[in-house]
Amino acid sequence: MSHPPASLLLSERSMNIPPFYVMEVLESAQKLERSGRDIVHLEIGEPDFPTAPHICDAANQSLAACNTRYTHSQGLYELRSAIVDDYNNRFGLELVPEQVLVTSGTSPALMLTFMALLDQGDTVLLPNPHYACYPNFVSALGCTSNFAYTSEENGFGLTPELVSENLDADSSSILINSPSNPTGYVMPSKDMQGIAEIAGDIPIISDEIYQGLVYGGKDHSILEYTDNAFVLNGFSKKYCMTGWRLGYLIAPLDCMRVLQKLQQNFFICANSFVQEAGIAALRGPQEHVDEMVATYDKRRKYMLKRLQDIGFNVGYEPMGAFYVLADAHEFGNDSLELSRTILDEAGVAVTPGIDFGDGAEGYIRFSYANSLENIEEGMKRLDAFLNG
Ligand SMILES: Cc1ncc(COP(=O)(O)O)c(C=O)c1O
Repeated sequence: MSHPPASLLLSERSMNIPPFYVMEVLESAQKLERSGRDIVHLEIGEPDFPTAPHICDAANQSLAACNTRYTHSQGLYELRSAIVDDYNNRFGLELVPEQVLVTSGTSPALMLTFMALLDQGDTVLLPNPHYACYPNFVSALGCTSNFAYTSEENGFGLTPELVSENLDADSSSILINSPSNPTGYVMPSKDMQGIAEIAGDIPIISDEIYQGLVYGGKDHSILEYTDNAFVLNGFSKKYCMTGWRLGYLIAPLDCMRVLQKLQQNFFICANSFVQEAGIAALRGPQEHVDEMVATYDKRRKYMLKRLQDIGFNVGYEPMGAFYVLADAHEFGNDSLELSRTILDEAGVAVTPGIDFGDGAEGYIRFSYANSLENIEEGMKRLDAFLNG
């Protein structure tokens, strides 16, 4: 049996989606590991801490009780209540559980949000550098990303001025991400407020998945400044639950019916017993999160210093998430090529800046979601390879 070549079978839209390079680096690193090489992982945006025991217990108990059926398409009411209590307590809001849609990770919440907001040909205003996948969601829907280029001198901040300069009559939504991947930028309150004011009737999509991972100062939610927002968040980062796949979307009440119908059709609901674990994460003790943040902070300081010693230029201090986007022009302009060489020659997996848009070409993203010991080893190898 034969069929026409994939290039004839598959849609142009899907074939034009670029790879998520960080996953490609990870997979290449794993291949090297299978052949016996020792690799230091500084590429992946995944907490190296285990999920807290009380969260695992909740899932185990839920499974033991055979909670293995579909849930309400918007998610268990108890989980949605825990989510709004968390947001209301932290930011002084009055959200209700009906405004929440629970998803299998933040990524499906992003997909549903874009689907709900975009008609073919629409334009989304995005910062550049940005989380790798945003423009790919946009283009998969036949829409266009309009990039506002942030600069390292401003700590890679998306400012109200940049939004004003880049917003045009075609913009159907504005996406912000604070704390940010890949830059670690944390948007100050006045800028978030300023962007909300400029946006007016244009909805803001606010990816808040790194909330809680900040080193000094306070992070904010767009919901403090406007109701015209679609907020994405999840359990992957703050609660070390990447593989559990649990996230959520908070949206204006009158948009929920459409979002619910999209969820019913495409995903039905999020995993039942995983939702029970989410309740335990939000309602249970939070000390483990504080300890993790203190540990990240030590690693952040160490990594910043060592990268600069080695010859990377880091002209800003990342204050959130667990990334440093370092200027690597000293060692090469092609970040993909450089990251491949660093992996092959030095045995250190790092993410090429180009994954995060052309505004990060010539940069390398380092993740400090790895032990201090491994980061030390990674820096030693990098130093020997680049300067030896
Ligand atoms: C900014 C940002 N948004 C969304 C996601 C997706 O997270 P999830 O694991 O919840 O799908 C990631 C994952 O790295 C991320 O960095």
